[in-house]
Amino acid sequence: MISKKLHKAINAQINRELFSEYLYLSMSAWFAKENLDGFASWMHVQAQEEHFHAMKFFNYLLERGAGVVLEQIDKPTTEFGNPLKAFQMAYEHEQYITKNINDLMDLANKENDHAAKSFLEWYVNEQVEEEASADKIVSRLKMIGDRIEGIFMLDNTLGQRTYTEPSSTEE
Ligand code: FEO
Repeated sequence: MISKKLHKAINAQINRELFSEYLYLSMSAWFAKENLDGFASWMHVQAQEEHFHAMKFFNYLLERGAGVVLEQIDKPTTEFGNPLKAFQMAYEHEQYITKNINDLMDLANKENDHAAKSFLEWYVNEQVEEEASADKIVSRLKMIGDRIEGIFMLDNTLGQRTYTEPSSTEE
């Protein structure tokens, strides 16, 4: 049996992952509006990843015999200023999500819930990648500065990202 506290905390994390999906979809729409289709596509893939993260928590609660209560999803920002500002926001958001995952792990430890600890390990590792990928793009955008040809080259590179659902062994 999963404890009430952990159940509630994971249920809240489902909402944060769905908000992450919304945020990156909003960024995708903004980039598309700015005619940066590669950036828009990268963000769209990121949103799909967030949906997977949310559903993985969703399915886990059901598997543990606990219910899921879907809460209202906040409206994300719709204006991001420039690509650097958007990716800085994405990086900060990922740091916030990492903190939440670490808090969940601390709670699982406190509750001595070995199954939850094993499950949460996947997210701990995933967050390392999540932060690294956003941070790398922030660094590149800083190097590029205002050089439009650099922005277009990065747009082209980011547009090559495709969504691959993690295999069942990773779930
Ligand atoms: Fe679900 Fe980007 O963390």
